[in-house]
Amino acid sequence: MSYLEVTWTDPATHAKGYLVIDRLVRGVSSGGLRMRAGCTLDEVRGLAAGMTAKEALNYDPDARYVPLGGAKGGIDFDPYDPRAEDVLTNYLYAMSPYVERFWTMGEDLGLRQSTIDRVIEKIGLRSSIQAVYPLLDDEEKARQRLADAFQVTVDGVGLDELVGGYGVAQAALTGIEHLGLTGATAFVQGFGSMGGATARYLAQNGVKVVGLADVHGVVANPRGLDVETLLLSRDQHGGIDRTRLREQDEQLDGERWLDVEADVLVPAATSYAINAGNAHRVRAKLVVEAANMPVTEEAEAEIDALVIPDVVANSATNSWWWWTLFGDVEATAESAFDKIATTMRRLTKGVVDQPSPRAAALRIAAEASEEIARRF
Ligand SMILES: NC(=O)c1ccc[n+]([C@@H]2O[C@H](COP(=O)([O-])OP(=O)(O)OC[C@H]3O[C@@H](n4cnc5c(N)ncnc54)[C@H](O)[C@@H]3O)[C@@H](O)[C@H]2O)c1
Repeated sequence: MSYLEVTWTDPATHAKGYLVIDRLVRGVSSGGLRMRAGCTLDEVRGLAAGMTAKEALNYDPDARYVPLGGAKGGIDFDPYDPRAEDVLTNYLYAMSPYVERFWTMGEDLGLRQSTIDRVIEKIGLRSSIQAVYPLLDDEEKARQRLADAFQVTVDGVGLDELVGGYGVAQAALTGIEHLGLTGATAFVQGFGSMGGATARYLAQNGVKVVGLADVHGVVANPRGLDVETLLLSRDQHGGIDRTRLREQDEQLDGERWLDVEADVLVPAATSYAINAGNAHRVRAKLVVEAANMPVTEEAEAEIDALVIPDVVANSATNSWWWWTLFGDVEATAESAFDKIATTMRRLTKGVVDQPSPRAAALRIAAEASEEIARRF
């Protein structure tokens, strides 16, 4: 059962918004805010519980960062609507008491951190993660380190938009090694923060990215897409610029995303993307959950593939924020990537040979949660 659930209605558009705090640790919770038409309280509840597990999984008794509790926010509104930023402003204003004290938040599906930061400033809050400041030893130094890390770019993309997908790619590479796949190919659904960086680091590690999907449709090429060109020409919502496709690249309708043959499938867009209705079409040997809850329980039971669960695979964005703020990593790409690769490979190896990697991950998280509760 959640610790707290808040339902909100936007006075201007009547859009619904939700905040679920699954658990507080040392009085604080962590979890992003998503905006999508159709977002439900149930979805936000599931995501908040996932955040508790994701935080706890990364528990290291020797680290400076101690995992927080899990939370999530969701707004049922189209992020492409011109009124989206006003709706976000109204929502965050209503939620400001929680942001001040209990809920550290950041970007998730449909929202950019820069937009959240702009709104946070507009409504007079200090930061979207100010609730954690009382837990810091040297607040000024910690905030400076995080601000410095946000200035880092790697080959044209901000480090903050790379760390999550870098972690997903490390999880995928560990899965590929575990299954002994040689010359592996990959399909990535979603080309925003998570999908874009995942595709980049898979390609850089010799995995041919044979297809990508964004909200507008699918692009594919069995010989591999030019991921780097497409990455650097995306729009701010992770939309692919079709004018940058090469002659042999194909364009397909969005619903054909599971028809593109690939060994590795990375759902990095919406929740419930692989469900009872389409699970029979999954032919990949490895599914790596970059999105939150992209594979439903029914679908997971049906597909014949190793599924690396979201709580493991996509946990790096969240941990990177805290590792940086608490001083477990420096404000450089090398330090961040090094820590993410080591942690992600260890976490993934710990679950891939279990009968259910998801159950194994949740078990590890539950044990860590108990240990944290005993310690504090
Ligand atoms: N950003 C993060 O730090 C982070 C961390 C952990 C998990 N996640 C999860 O990863 C997923 C993606 O988040 P993001 O931040 O990369 O989002 P984003 O908004 O940056 O990008 C979303 C991408 O998905 C595409 N997309 C949207 N609907 C689609 C559809 N129906 N079919 C195909 N493509 C579609 C968009 O065109 C875009 O390319 C979400 O489930 C989110 O909860 C994000």
